[in-house]
Amino acid sequence: MPRKIMSAEIDLVPEVSSLSEIYVSSDQSGRYRTLFDEFDHYYGKAPEFVSRSPGRVNLIGEHIDYCYFSVLPMAIEQDIVVLVCTNDSGTINLINSNAKFGPESFVMSAADDDNNIGNVVSIDRSLTTWTNYFKCGLLVAHQYLAIVIKRRHVAPVGMDVLVDGTVPAAAGLSSSAAFICAAALATLRANGVTTVSKEELAKMAIVSERHLGVYSGGMDQSASVFGKRDHALYVQFQPKLKCTPFKFPKTDRPLTFLIANSLVKANKHETAPVNYNLRVVEVSIAAEILAHKYSVAIPQDSGIGMGTLWGFMEAYYKEYEGAGARRGQAWDGEVVEGMRRLHTMTGLARTVFVQTDGYTAAEAAEELGMTVDELHERFLSKTPVRFEKLQLHGRAVHVYEEALRVLQYLRLLLEPGVDSDSDKLFHDLGQLMNQSHESLRGLFNCSCPELDEICAIARRTGSYGSRLTGAGFGGCSVHLVASDKVQEVKDALIENYYRVKFPGIADDALEEALVVSKPGIGSLVYTGGVP
Ligand code: GLA
Repeated sequence: MPRKIMSAEIDLVPEVSSLSEIYVSSDQSGRYRTLFDEFDHYYGKAPEFVSRSPGRVNLIGEHIDYCYFSVLPMAIEQDIVVLVCTNDSGTINLINSNAKFGPESFVMSAADDDNNIGNVVSIDRSLTTWTNYFKCGLLVAHQYLAIVIKRRHVAPVGMDVLVDGTVPAAAGLSSSAAFICAAALATLRANGVTTVSKEELAKMAIVSERHLGVYSGGMDQSASVFGKRDHALYVQFQPKLKCTPFKFPKTDRPLTFLIANSLVKANKHETAPVNYNLRVVEVSIAAEILAHKYSVAIPQDSGIGMGTLWGFMEAYYKEYEGAGARRGQAWDGEVVEGMRRLHTMTGLARTVFVQTDGYTAAEAAEELGMTVDELHERFLSKTPVRFEKLQLHGRAVHVYEEALRVLQYLRLLLEPGVDSDSDKLFHDLGQLMNQSHESLRGLFNCSCPELDEICAIARRTGSYGSRLTGAGFGGCSVHLVASDKVQEVKDALIENYYRVKFPGIADDALEEALVVSKPGIGSLVYTGGVP
């Protein structure tokens, strides 16, 4: 019998009072004791509560969340922890336990006049400072208080804050989303909101990074908020955000995912105009061209207010296709039907985007039946990007094929076969991960030589499947390795990658760079005091 994944009930962000409910792989009481001491040292009092949110690793489904296709991440145990005590001066005092990140204080504006609802702070996106992420969480939480809860004309509550993180920055494990989620949750709590649903928290965090000018999708925030111990997550964005936790199948050897950090920093914000945001713009223009060619209207509902490749798929099926009773219908999420539709989409993308070396702005405008000025006005003016050619073929084909791989991966995990032959299952899952990496490298151009090398070494040593995880351009990779092979793969990476690229690398740096992470619990408030 195929295993079913249970739909998530209305889930509230939990409050826990024991660290053992949060961490299983390591004892974190020492870390918390140190943080409580530091808090007392800086502020001369104890925190009232701690808000924390984890990083994530994405198993498969890269660069498709902002096109609204489903992804398969899991939360990890590494997290961002925010200790908070409220103050009545309306001031936000921010201190980071890592002295590399300097402190900052600011007074919030009242922001309750009708033109300025919830805008308690302005964010200077030209600065790359760590406190900007806190401000994003603070801002969206206050907008939620003002707009959704309709709390108006109430002075925003000040907070004395100490932040500590174990998610490596700029490593593709989503430290920024973890920080923003923790900051938003802390702000809600400080302002008296003790009950918030995971869906609401994830949704407010999803839009928040746009205040920094990065138009990311919703995967990181969803994984961070909805994370569940021992469960991976099937995250759907359409027709509405839905995160369904599911367990890995029982196999004779447990499925193990090794995360290897390339230690190449990948800063999404600084490189957005040529990397991340450019990809977001390219896939949107690809969707608009497909819609134009097939004369269908698509909703302008992406993060940058344009059409999506998901939107095109839906519109195309409504207009032209669909088998039997499904003719003309929206896809209801059924896996086999989704795979069929995505096959068709890949074919269309290959047919329409024949210029595999890219399209100049003039060529893209021609495909859309508009002038270059109109193209700039409609698609390129809101989000600054730089390019010589728009890579429409590679981007569109990657998105549809990767979305298909997600469904194939999910199907394998939910229906692993009667005998649960782990070797066959691991092999099939691994193939999909390898194909994903190849597509991200060749079609989406978001890998780098270091990530390619790590994947090659791991595969040579026995990884079933190896791929970059997160936005790419550096950062981390994820490897499906049988549990009895983990040490061998680690050793090979240490000898052939880390010691070669970073001679003299310290043992603790190596330990941090190579981790086997179990799926962990998502955002929560800890009220247990000093452990
Ligand atoms: C970053 C973004 C996500 C997602 C990934 C790529 O992590 O924040 O929304 O787009 O890149 O899959």
